Amino acid sequence: MKKRVLVSGGAGYIGSHVSVELINSGYDIVVADNMSNCDLTCFEGVKKITGREDIPFVKMDFCDMEAVNRLFDEYRIDAVIHFAAFKAVGESVAKPVLYYKNNLSSFLNVLEAAMGHGGCNVLFSSSATVYGEAEKLPVTEQSPRLPATSPYGNTKQICEDILRDTVKAESSIKGIALRYFNPIGAHPSALIGELPRGVPNNLVPFITQTAIGKRERLSIFGNDYPTPDGTCLRDYIDIVDLAKAHVAAVRRMLDGKMKKDYEIFNIGTGRPVSVAELVHSFEKVNGVKLNYAYVDRRPGDVTAIWADTALANEELGWKAERSVDETLESAWAWEKHLAGKE
Ligand code: WQD
Repeated sequence: MKKRVLVSGGAGYIGSHVSVELINSGYDIVVADNMSNCDLTCFEGVKKITGREDIPFVKMDFCDMEAVNRLFDEYRIDAVIHFAAFKAVGESVAKPVLYYKNNLSSFLNVLEAAMGHGGCNVLFSSSATVYGEAEKLPVTEQSPRLPATSPYGNTKQICEDILRDTVKAESSIKGIALRYFNPIGAHPSALIGELPRGVPNNLVPFITQTAIGKRERLSIFGNDYPTPDGTCLRDYIDIVDLAKAHVAAVRRMLDGKMKKDYEIFNIGTGRPVSVAELVHSFEKVNGVKLNYAYVDRRPGDVTAIWADTALANEELGWKAERSVDETLESAWAWEKHLAGKE
């Protein structure tokens, strides 16, 4: 019998790409989302890409314990990938209670329901933000986690700890946390991608919206950092590569291949790219000119972060494959696809 994976927050940017890869790898899935930060565009795209009209979708809020229990009653769930969370760093500073309540209680509800239904494999969607401004680069999974600089970042650290402690106490729960670096790009079909609400906070959606004329000018935050060209360094990971890492992690759990009951993996490329380099690559590969200007640093940004990916490469048998250029082409194709629909 096929194994079933619950994808919480599965209608969003990362969840939809992961849904496609899970189906392509032979898993059954159930997608659940409260649609608080997305519409059905990406879920419809998942159905089109996979040719599967019958993917179960449940509109529900993971903060609602009864709804989570009903979901586990209805479906036999072999693994959960938990994406359902608020993700805007700045908003989390302004609304900490909202962020802590939503991000922590939804995850606690998933764990409680899983425990009440005979246990489960739990994959938690974490972030390189837990490393803060790292002293030694690249960061390995053993690098220290630094105190979070936002409630959003803190919810990632706390949820990692909740999973670690739960796994220790409950033999029926196994867990993996994937620490993502900077996910960018879209599916090569241009049927699913990132759909930021309002003014984008992240670099690539801001670039594509500037290129299409929705934003007048891209601000590059700071060119006086101690880096080769003065702009920040990040590890930009293609969204499809990132999605494939989830399949590898789910397979590891379901096939009983974990070496410990709780494991952590960095999911990045291992290559640092500066903001200026990314902007210029975007212009070059897509043949467009971007209107941009260097402005002051953005408070809270770290100078540089990139991943040591050896553990994920060896243990998950996974490696980032798409080049930054291909990823930037896909991001542009997606923006143009959206513009065509407007
Ligand atoms: C990348 C670089 C900016 C916008 C954040 C969160 C992290 C994760 C992903 C997700 C930085 C520069 C950006 C712009 C710019 N969270 N930049 N002009 O800050 O590395 O990570 O998003 O859910 O937790 O902290 O990503 O894309 O915002 O920025 O110059 O208009 O681009 O200064 O150097 P970041 P980002």
